[in-house]
Amino acid sequence: MHAQIKPWVLGIETSCDESSLSVFDPSCKKFIYEKTLTQIHAHAKFGGVVPDLASRLHLSLLTQIVLDLNQKFPHWPQRIGWVAATTRPGLITSLLVGGVFGKSLAKFLMVPFVPIDHCEAHLYSSVLETEAVPFLSLDEMRNQFPITALIVSGGHTYWIGVDTSFRSRCLGTTLDDAVGECFDKVARMLGLGYPGGPEVERLASIGDPDRFDLPVPMPRGLDFSLSGLKTAVRLALCQYPEMTDQIRSDLCASFHQSIERLFECKIQQCIRQEKPTSVWFSGGVSANHRLRDVVARVCAQNHVNCRIVPRKYAGDNASMIAYLGYLKYKQDPDSCMRQEAGIVPYSIFSGFGLSISKSKR
Ligand code: KG4
Ligand code: ZN
Repeated sequence: MHAQIKPWVLGIETSCDESSLSVFDPSCKKFIYEKTLTQIHAHAKFGGVVPDLASRLHLSLLTQIVLDLNQKFPHWPQRIGWVAATTRPGLITSLLVGGVFGKSLAKFLMVPFVPIDHCEAHLYSSVLETEAVPFLSLDEMRNQFPITALIVSGGHTYWIGVDTSFRSRCLGTTLDDAVGECFDKVARMLGLGYPGGPEVERLASIGDPDRFDLPVPMPRGLDFSLSGLKTAVRLALCQYPEMTDQIRSDLCASFHQSIERLFECKIQQCIRQEKPTSVWFSGGVSANHRLRDVVARVCAQNHVNCRIVPRKYAGDNASMIAYLGYLKYKQDPDSCMRQEAGIVPYSIFSGFGLSISKSKR
């Protein structure tokens, strides 16, 4: 490869039900290739992700994507400087497909393999670029630190604090369901499709939020607990043996209102307690317009910077994997190579953070 040409970074994401591949070109700071093929429709009739089906679909969808990449950039293998893939946490058989593909490709191309923690990739997805907001460089990020990041998805709910040395620690999590999981379960109770978040959000916007008096669950500190709210929705539903569109929308609106109030309180509490310079918000649930507004509003009221992931990158995608792989390798190639590259279903916070990192929990 020509010494002047900066190598591309290939990112792979297969931790759940999205098969995704992305190529980042550091010389122009652009994703020159991004493709995510969702498996949602295949899993929808089962009301959730079926692990065995997901891994088999990843195999065929990743192959499709690589063929497409071949067509668009026939010489892509010569340009790849390193490969990053999600190796934890997620469905183990799904992680294996992308993880083994990434490791084998890196070996074949004789380039480094960078294992990526999916939750950490969501965390740093807040710095990704949109037409309106440019990428944050490492130095610009450092200027924003200390930050606290709220990562909310279908499987994870975390408050993560990151200091100026890029060390991260977990400040809070959910005691039961993840926020996205709660949206999905409420949707299921109401006979809505999977994933439930977008449909609950849509119905909430046309329903009456004051019709049902649902609780705002408020456990200690920055932790979340959603099971009480979920039970309250179930109990409210029991009063109506005949479901109508109106009841469904009103229940979604009341549920959504409780979640908004919960977010408002937790963000306020986080700002009071942690005094961050900036609050970041990401993960699948951060695609929710009203929750994005709540986070932005509370930050503005408290004069705290706010960085919300571009909607395009809120759900699972390989661009956040490629970009974190790029940052990690650029920041510290040696520690990056020493990192545990095993494929495991759980998140290991000792691997979290762009440099040395330690969890306090
Ligand atoms: O990050 P993600 O794509 O996958 C995981 O890592 O889990 O998040 C998926 C979750 C699902 O639970 C989905 O219902 C939720 O994000 N979600 C939403 C919205 N869009 C997706 N939740 C609330 N409102 C939305 N608009
Ligand atoms: Zn995710």
